[in-house]
Amino acid sequence: MAGLPDSLSGQDVGSFAYLTIKDRIPQILTKVIDTLHRHKSEFFEKHGEKGMEAEKKAISLLSKLRNELQTDKPIVPLVEKFVDTDIWNQYLEYQQSLLNESDGKPRWFLSPWLFVECYMYRRIHEAIIQSPPIDDFDVFKESKDQNFFESQQSIIALCTYLQELMKTIEDLEDNQLKDEFFKVLQISLWGNKCDLSLSGGDTSSQKTNIISSLEDLKPFILVNDMERLWSLLSNCKKTRERASITRVDIILDNSGFELITDLVLADFLLSSKLATEIHFYGKTIPWFVSDTTIHDFNWLIKQLKHSNHKWMSKCGVNWENHIKMGRWVYLDHMFWTLPHEFSAMSQVAPDLHAELQKAHLILFKGDLNYRKLTGDRKWEFTIPFHQALNGFHPAPLCSIRTLKAEVQVGLQPGQAEQLSASDPSWMTSGKYGIFQFDGPL
Ligand code: F6P
Ligand code: MG
Repeated sequence: MAGLPDSLSGQDVGSFAYLTIKDRIPQILTKVIDTLHRHKSEFFEKHGEKGMEAEKKAISLLSKLRNELQTDKPIVPLVEKFVDTDIWNQYLEYQQSLLNESDGKPRWFLSPWLFVECYMYRRIHEAIIQSPPIDDFDVFKESKDQNFFESQQSIIALCTYLQELMKTIEDLEDNQLKDEFFKVLQISLWGNKCDLSLSGGDTSSQKTNIISSLEDLKPFILVNDMERLWSLLSNCKKTRERASITRVDIILDNSGFELITDLVLADFLLSSKLATEIHFYGKTIPWFVSDTTIHDFNWLIKQLKHSNHKWMSKCGVNWENHIKMGRWVYLDHMFWTLPHEFSAMSQVAPDLHAELQKAHLILFKGDLNYRKLTGDRKWEFTIPFHQALNGFHPAPLCSIRTLKAEVQVGLQPGQAEQLSASDPSWMTSGKYGIFQFDGPL
């Protein structure tokens, strides 16, 4: 694509992309292998000898993958037939077509980081589906559930806060409602600190009460378009005709604590009547360790519902009811686990693009979504977000993300330089966050 900056890539020795491919990804693969080992007896109990053989097969495929990665071998086509196999293999050919003859074939450290990192998770999935009868095993499920249990106290605090708020929400003045809206937005932003791929698959739960930290965290919000979200949704509310809808779509990121924060936000949007319908999008296969699948989504709501804590269980009951009544809709689409940047969506997944166009607002949670929104390129820090979206404007949209990759656009002149001087790891530590909006003024 002419005129666009280069992609982030492992070619840049010392960059975060390079370190991720060199250290973090092999560490995640090792953990996956270890997880399979530890479930050996469970596979045996469930499937007998066949389960044991499947475990051996998956482990040998994954060890091979780790070796290919660590020795920077060419990226090979996917072999197992699955819904997206052809699209992946075409994308690999496209990557090949971008290379000069002297480069040879797409390789782990040579090719775009976004491509190879997505490919790694897709290959993990391939190893599992090639190993029936354990082909529906989610190698990351255990860590996702652990994140949920370890965040228990913070979840209780959030559910209690939400249920207290519900009691008075109808009586709030506009300004008070706006304050509460900003609070739930920030809760959802900082919930994104809890992903498990940045930590190499190690636990990353929320142990402190996030609500009491919001004021202290404010200086870490680098781009803050919350006002624009408020004016968009409060306008929709004011001008909405009877029986018409305001739809907010949330492209989910991590399960566990972050998902709770997103559901709190979604519940607030309905109760405040800022929206009347929420569509959630999750992943169809286990992805970037902690990303939400339909199983995680249902599991988490069930956990809340059956909890002994009054307010947790009330949230679970209410949320299940939103789903039953069709006010909350969960959808998945294979596009979210392809390597393509979002500017390719209208071509690769026109049905999904058309669906998103029906939303009044789309919220993209998390770092990986930001990388895909901006194409994971070496943009200048001051380039407008609208430009970096490269033609992807299905509806007004906002990225809600903590920074975990070396890509950031839409900053003020001098802002990035100042940050680099005071905190060299500002782009990758997850300490900073943004609400970055694109849409009509
Ligand atoms: O390597 C860290 C990393 O895996 C990034 O590649 C990725 O963007 C991020 O973590 C995942 O974060 P999130 O869950 O916020 O999308
Ligand atoms: Mg994630």
